Amino acid sequence: MKTYHIAALAGDGIGPEIMAEAKKVLALVELRNPVKFVIEDLSFGGVAYFETGDAFPEATKLACDKADAILKGTIGLSHEESKKIPVEKQPERGALLPLRARYQTFANFRPVYLPKELAHFSPLRPEIIGDGIDIMIIRELVGGVYFGRKERGVNKLGKRFVDEHLEYDEDQIRRILKVGFETARSRKKVLHNIHKSNVLLSSVLWNEVLEEVAPQYRDVTVKHMLVDSAATALCLNPGQFDVMVMENLFGDILSDQGGGILGSLGLMPSACMGPDKAYYEPSHGSAPDIAGKNIANPYSMIGSVAMMLEMSFGLKEEAKNLWAALKTVFASGFTTPDLARGGDKQISTGAFGDKVVEALSKMPKPE
Ligand code: IPM
Ligand code: MG
Repeated sequence: MKTYHIAALAGDGIGPEIMAEAKKVLALVELRNPVKFVIEDLSFGGVAYFETGDAFPEATKLACDKADAILKGTIGLSHEESKKIPVEKQPERGALLPLRARYQTFANFRPVYLPKELAHFSPLRPEIIGDGIDIMIIRELVGGVYFGRKERGVNKLGKRFVDEHLEYDEDQIRRILKVGFETARSRKKVLHNIHKSNVLLSSVLWNEVLEEVAPQYRDVTVKHMLVDSAATALCLNPGQFDVMVMENLFGDILSDQGGGILGSLGLMPSACMGPDKAYYEPSHGSAPDIAGKNIANPYSMIGSVAMMLEMSFGLKEEAKNLWAALKTVFASGFTTPDLARGGDKQISTGAFGDKVVEALSKMPKPE
């Protein structure tokens, strides 16, 4: 029996509601596998700021340091609530970016996955969707303009200005490209390298490093695409992509577009991997407008649990079962009000989680 310590950071908005569903699933996984989960609930995000004056309190940091994996819900406040907090202490800058920096979670895996059971959610026409969409966006997560030097001030002419730097060194680029190549090698052996080398020097260096790394992966075909064309291509012909690798800001934007072609950011789980620690989170925000109504779909949160089972705990088989359970629930026509279209049977966040648990409990236990 293996024991894993999980730091649970439910966060703001719909975070606590979808985290509750993740925990239901983990409780069942414990019953079906020789594992025990010790889950510690920790304060993080806007709630933490209002409780302690710090969106990423020291106690949370220490508990995360000790945990085997971190499971994060969502953070972020409404525009009005955000204004009550100094800019640098708001949950994004005060909690999320420091979490990423603390554990150097440089490799962010964002699956854009639309199997046939979910196809009706997509705004794309069936002939564009074809057999379904299955893309792995790999986003560099701890470099670029997010973490570069920043200055804000008033210049000699009395005008307010900002100076924000897009910074990468070759080691940061090399390690994420290797993750891209390795992932491509484990899938269809095609890697789309997304860049903007016609304008940005950072992309020129990125591509230089890619040329140096590529000979170690001769079995992988590299396809280069400018980020702006990639945005169009994702809408017009998503089937051409399998693994895409890109820098931080490009990945932020294109992964949200990935959510768009699926039909909702609620269908976007993710894994953020560092050298010694990983954390798992839905790619979407805290949806303050629907918080507390028990109508948010927990797919992205439960999908993040599936990624944690596979990537942090080696429970590959059970992770597959969990994906299958999620699909079964959608295939039987159930969904939550936030995703519902005509004809869907609408159930609450909690009831959706219960259905996933029921579907998983019917699957054969892993050997
Ligand atoms: C994401 C989010 C974050 C980001 C925000 C909340 C800081 O949009 O994880 O994609 O920009 O990285
Ligand atoms: Mg984003």
